Amino acid sequence: MIGILTAGGDCPGLNAVIRAVVRRATQAGHQCLGIRDGWRGLMEDVTQPLDRDDVAGIMQQGGTILGTSRMDPYVHGDGIASVRHTLERHGIDRVIVIGGEGSLHTGMKLWREGLPVIGVPKTIDNDIFATDVTFGFHTAVQIATDAIDRLTTTAESHNRVILVEVMGRNAGWLATYAGIAGGADAILVPEVPYDLEDLAKLIQDRHARQRQYSIVVVAEGIAPPPGSSSPRMGKDSFGFERLGGVSYALAPLIEEMTGFETRVTILGHIQRGGSPTAYDRVLATRLGVAATDLAMAGEAGVMVALKGDRIIPVPLEEACAQVRYLDTDVFDVARTFFG
Ligand code: F6P
Repeated sequence: MIGILTAGGDCPGLNAVIRAVVRRATQAGHQCLGIRDGWRGLMEDVTQPLDRDDVAGIMQQGGTILGTSRMDPYVHGDGIASVRHTLERHGIDRVIVIGGEGSLHTGMKLWREGLPVIGVPKTIDNDIFATDVTFGFHTAVQIATDAIDRLTTTAESHNRVILVEVMGRNAGWLATYAGIAGGADAILVPEVPYDLEDLAKLIQDRHARQRQYSIVVVAEGIAPPPGSSSPRMGKDSFGFERLGGVSYALAPLIEEMTGFETRVTILGHIQRGGSPTAYDRVLATRLGVAATDLAMAGEAGVMVALKGDRIIPVPLEEACAQVRYLDTDVFDVARTFFG
C-alpha cells in the first residue's frame, strides 16, 4: 500500500502528482491511500481511499484534493509514534510526501527514524535544493507576470510608481522571473541587499529620461528598510513568521525620496491558486510517476528531482541540506533592464 500526502502551503500541480501516483500504482496492481491534511492525517489517522476514479479530472484543478496543513509530528504530535501506528494500521509500506522545504525536512527526520518516505518537491518559491525547478513555480510566475502587465498600464496612466509584492520567503526566484517577464524597472530580492537611495535615484532618472511610471517587483522576504518594520502578521503553525506587507514600509519612503506617488499591490495567495500551467502539469506528472516507480521498487529516503531534462532520485538528506537561493546570473540578466 502506498500512502500519499500533501503538506505545507499548497501550490498548483499537487493534484497532478496525486493523479499520477494513483494511476501508475493501480496500473501495476498496487493500492493507494490518501492521507488527509498533510502530516495531521498520519498523526490522527485520517485517510481517504484513492482509486483510479477518485483522481479522474483533477489534474487541471488547483489546490489539493487531500487537503494540506502546516502540522508537524515533531512540533504538534508525539514524533514518529502515532505516525508509525497509522502506517501499520493501514499496511502502508511507502509514503509519498509532496512537500516544500519544511515538510521534506520532516520527512527526512522520519526517514532517519526508519519511516519509508519518498519526497516530491513542490513550492511556488522554487527554493528546494537538488532539483532544477519545483512544480508550481511556472504557474506562479505566469500569474505574477499577468498582474505586472495589468499594473503597468494603470501605473503609466497615473504616472505612478507601483510596488508589486510577490511571495518568496527566502529566495527571489519568483520576483526575478516575473520581473524579467513583466519588464520590471527594479526588483528587490532577499539575496541581494538594496539601497533605498540608489533605488530612488534609479526611479528619478528613469522618470526624467523617458517614462513617468515605474514597476518595482518586491519579494516578500526582503529586509524592511532601516528604521522601519514589516507589519506583524503573527506566526504560522509551523512557527514561521507570516510574511507580506514589507512594501508598505517601502512605499512612503520611495514617495518621499522621489516625489512620485507610490502605490502597493500585494499578490498574496492569488499566486498559489487556480489551474496549473501545462508545464507544471507535465512536470508534476513526471515526478509523480517517478516517485511511484521508486515506491514500487522498495526505495525510500529519496526525493525525485528534475536534473536537466531527466527525473532522478536524490537523497532526501541532500535535498534538505540547504535552501536553493536565486542564481546570481539570472539576477544579473534582470538587472540589465533596470531603470
Ligand atoms: O512556502 C511557500 C509560500 O508561498 C511562501 O512564499 C509564503 O511566505 C508562504 O508560503 C505563505 O504561506 P501561508 O499559506 O501559510 O500564508
